[in-house]
Amino acid sequence: MDRIRIVGGNELHGVIPISGAKNAALPLMIASLLTDDTLTLENVPHLADVEQLIRILGNHGVDISVNGRRERQGESYARTIHFTCRNIVDTTAPYELVSKMRASFWVIGPLLAREGKARVSLPGGCAIGTRPVDLFIEGLQALSANIEIDSGYVNATAPAGGLIGARYTFPKVSVGATHVLMMAATLANGTTVLGNAAREPEVVDLANCLNAMGAKITGQGTATITIEGVRSLSGARHRVLPDRIETGTYAMAVAMTGGDVILEDTDMALLDTALEAIRRAGAEITPTNSGIRVVRNGAGIKPVDIVTDPFPGFPTDLQAQFMGLMTMAKGTSHITETIFENRFMHVQELARLGAKISLSGQTAKIEGVSRLKGAPVMATDLRASVSLVIAGLAAEGETMVSRVYHLDRGFERLEEKLTRCGAHVERVSD
Ligand code: EPZ
Repeated sequence: MDRIRIVGGNELHGVIPISGAKNAALPLMIASLLTDDTLTLENVPHLADVEQLIRILGNHGVDISVNGRRERQGESYARTIHFTCRNIVDTTAPYELVSKMRASFWVIGPLLAREGKARVSLPGGCAIGTRPVDLFIEGLQALSANIEIDSGYVNATAPAGGLIGARYTFPKVSVGATHVLMMAATLANGTTVLGNAAREPEVVDLANCLNAMGAKITGQGTATITIEGVRSLSGARHRVLPDRIETGTYAMAVAMTGGDVILEDTDMALLDTALEAIRRAGAEITPTNSGIRVVRNGAGIKPVDIVTDPFPGFPTDLQAQFMGLMTMAKGTSHITETIFENRFMHVQELARLGAKISLSGQTAKIEGVSRLKGAPVMATDLRASVSLVIAGLAAEGETMVSRVYHLDRGFERLEEKLTRCGAHVERVSD
C-alpha cells in the first residue's frame, strides 16, 4: 500500500493549479442519468471517487467516453468526459458499489425521476459520523414517492404519472439531500419549493448545469430553491467549478510553512470565510487575474477560533487542515465542529507530531507549539489525511503518512503540486 513521505521545513514558492471540484463533479456526473442525450463535463478531476462513480454509472447504463484521457491545460490535467444514458438498464444500485462511496446513494433522485423506481443500498455509516438518509427519504416522500426500507435497501417508487412537485423544508441543511431533491424535482409534475436548502457553490453549479439541460430552477445559492418541473431534459456542456476545498487546503499549507504561492484557476468568492480565517492567522491573501496569491513572510501564526457551519460558514471539509495550521500558532485557539459528530480523528495523529490538542465534546482546544517533529502517522479520512500532510510540511524531519488511498479520493496529483513549490513530498510504494 502506498505511503507519502514528507521531509518538512521548506517554504512553498510557486504556482499550484487548482483542479475541478470533486464535490461538484460527482453530482454533475449523476445528473447525466436524467437525460437520454449527452452531458459533457469539462474540468473533471482525476480522482479515485470520480473513477468509482464512473463504474457505478456504467452499471445503470451510462456510456462514458473520456476525451484524450488527460488533457494537459497549462499545468493542470483537466479532463472532458461525455456521459450518455440512452436507456437506464438497471435501477438498482447494489451494496457492493454504494458502500464504497456515500455520494453514489444520490442516484436515487434521477433514477426515480426518470424511471419511476429505484432500489438503492443504504450507504451505512462512515468514519466521520453516522450520516443518516432520513432527509432524502422525507423529501422524496414529499414529492409523493412511496418508500420502503428492506434488507438494507431503499426501495422507492413514483406514482403512475411521475413524481409530484411539492413544498418541502429541510429540518437540517444537507448538501446531498438538496442535490437529490433538486434533481428529482426537475422532471416532476408541477413546482417544487425547497426551503432551508444548502447554499454551497456545488449546489449552485449543479442547478446551473441542470438549467443548461433545460430545467427551470431559480433561487440556487439562497435557502429557497424553486424547481418548475419539465417533461424532459436535454444534453449540455458544462465546466466543473474550481475545488474550494483544495484551494483552502493549499492556502493553509502556505500559511503554515511560509512562502509565496499563486493558486491558479480558482476564485476567492468560493471560500470567503475560510480565507478570512487564514488572513487572521497571519497570511496575506490577494486576488490575481486567474486565482489567489497567498503569502506569509516571517510573521508568526496567530491563533484564530473557528466554528464549522454550512455555506457560507467555515467549511467542515477544511476543519482538519485549519487545525493543522493552528498547532503551530503563537497561543491557544478553539475549533468547534457542528456538521459531523466524529470529525476529530486527525487529533491523535497530529499529537504524534507534537501538537497539543484537547477535546471537549465538539470543541478542540489547540495550544500552539513552537515546533512539530516528523513521525509516522495514519490517514483516517480524506480531509484528516491532508491535514497531516500540511503539518508534515512544517514539521522538522520525516513524516510518513500511511493509508494514502484516502488522499487519492480527493486530491489530484498532490505530491506533484507540492513538489513543484519546493516541498519534499514523495509517494513510496511498498
Ligand atoms: C457533502 O456531504 C460533502 N460530500 C462532504 O464532503 C461535506 O463534508 C458535507 O457535504 C458538508 O459540507 C460531497 O459533496 C460528495 P450533508 P453530504 O448531507 O452531502 C446530516 C469530503 O470530504 N444528515 O450536507 O453527505 C449529516 O449526518 C466530504 O469531500 C442527516 O442527518 O453532507 C450531517 O451531520 C466528506 N440526514 C449533516 O446532515 C440526512 O438524510 C450535513 O451532511 C442527510 C444528512
